[in-house]
Amino acid sequence: MKTVVICGPQTSSGVERVAELVRENGGNPIIVPMLSGFSAVPSAEVHIIFRKQALDLSGYTPGQAQVGIIYANNQVCDTLGASDLEKIAEANLLYLAPAENVSGWIRRTLDGDHADDEFAWNFVESEDSNVSLVPVVKPKTRLKIACYSPLGGIGKTTASVMIGKLAQESGHSVCIVESDNDNAGVLQALGAPPVTEGLGSILDEEWEQYDLFRERVQGYLQKVDDIAVLPIGADTLGMKCDEDNIANLYSWVNSQAYDTVIYDLPPQLSELSVYKTLQEVDTIILIGEPTIKAEEKLMRFITRTQNLQGLKDVAGKLKLIINKYVPTAGVKDVEIAETTGIPLIATVPADPEGYYRMINDRKLNIPAAWRDVWEILSPLDWGAKGSKAFNQAKRVKKNGFWKSLLGIK
Ligand SMILES: Nc1ncnc2c1ncn2[C@@H]1O[C@H](COP(=O)(O)OP(=O)(O)OP(=O)(O)O)[C@@H](O)[C@H]1O
Ligand SMILES: [Mg+2]
Repeated sequence: MKTVVICGPQTSSGVERVAELVRENGGNPIIVPMLSGFSAVPSAEVHIIFRKQALDLSGYTPGQAQVGIIYANNQVCDTLGASDLEKIAEANLLYLAPAENVSGWIRRTLDGDHADDEFAWNFVESEDSNVSLVPVVKPKTRLKIACYSPLGGIGKTTASVMIGKLAQESGHSVCIVESDNDNAGVLQALGAPPVTEGLGSILDEEWEQYDLFRERVQGYLQKVDDIAVLPIGADTLGMKCDEDNIANLYSWVNSQAYDTVIYDLPPQLSELSVYKTLQEVDTIILIGEPTIKAEEKLMRFITRTQNLQGLKDVAGKLKLIINKYVPTAGVKDVEIAETTGIPLIATVPADPEGYYRMINDRKLNIPAAWRDVWEILSPLDWGAKGSKAFNQAKRVKKNGFWKSLLGIK
């Protein structure tokens, strides 16, 4: 049982609630009124500093404990000095939380579930030029997503690009593996010129030698607006490679430590790369449209995965998106969800003009439905998601301000 020392007024109902959360999660809470009280419990694995107690951290040393600072508003963050934070950050996890996010942090801390979480800070310049902090918790588990459909022209590439873009905007490093036979797909949608060479050009013997393979892959990797795109780029369908070689591809992708990796797949389940990628990823975005034909093809895909030993686990990873939806015509989105038994996470309206403009004017405009998709997929635990501070943090992060200020990556 982990001992959690909470520094805060014993009479505070907030502190009592935090203690209760610790107990609920199997921890042993001890409340101390002052920071100096931490030293009385040297075995504590977690320190929680409650609100005003964090106003002056100059005499505090975290030791081996993981540290959480809980604040209800920005007042505490405004007064925390960068040096105080660096001191804690060097040795420990630090979590600065508005009160409403505390339970998740306690749960994960006591589960030992975020030992590998990466923490970063965004200093946010507010209008009155005070600097406050917004926590960014990077996901421990990197997101591995496949956008798949047994149908062509249905929005797999669109989904890959929308999700990739939204992931990048929320601070993720992103790689889209364009496993589609459509050369220009992802690059074009991102406003970049197509390429003709990519993974498909890698020779058999190069696939087999990992060092050589790594070199070749680096050469094909495209970077558009901070999004890495790895194209197939061959005129033949799919990659010319066997099971071992595909494993090499995943090794390489995983070694790059992207926060989000998206595989834009071709429709053919018979392709080895499709089969293997469905196994490799954690989430499969299955895309359908509101037609009987689409519904039938989705059903056939589901049945096939159930009958294939290697794809038995796929069912639990599937999330359904109905794209090009017209509420007044065709099959209802909820009906397809019911028939297929796959959770429907979004319905994207048909908007031929909008998508035409997107492709032809090279202007990526992200419809609201895709933002909902990212909300569902994103594991980010921002302090104040959706808030003004959150949005400012993204801007500040982009400009590299917080990095230069804190000198922390
Ligand atoms: N909701 C929508 N409304 C209207 N048009 C859309 C919508 N979503 C995508 N499109 C358009 O449909 C076309 C096909 O989309 P996309 O290329 O993403 O499909 P795909 O499944 O990747 O196709 P392929 O099988 O050829 O790889 C594109 O021109 C795209 O702009
Ligand atoms: Mg495509």
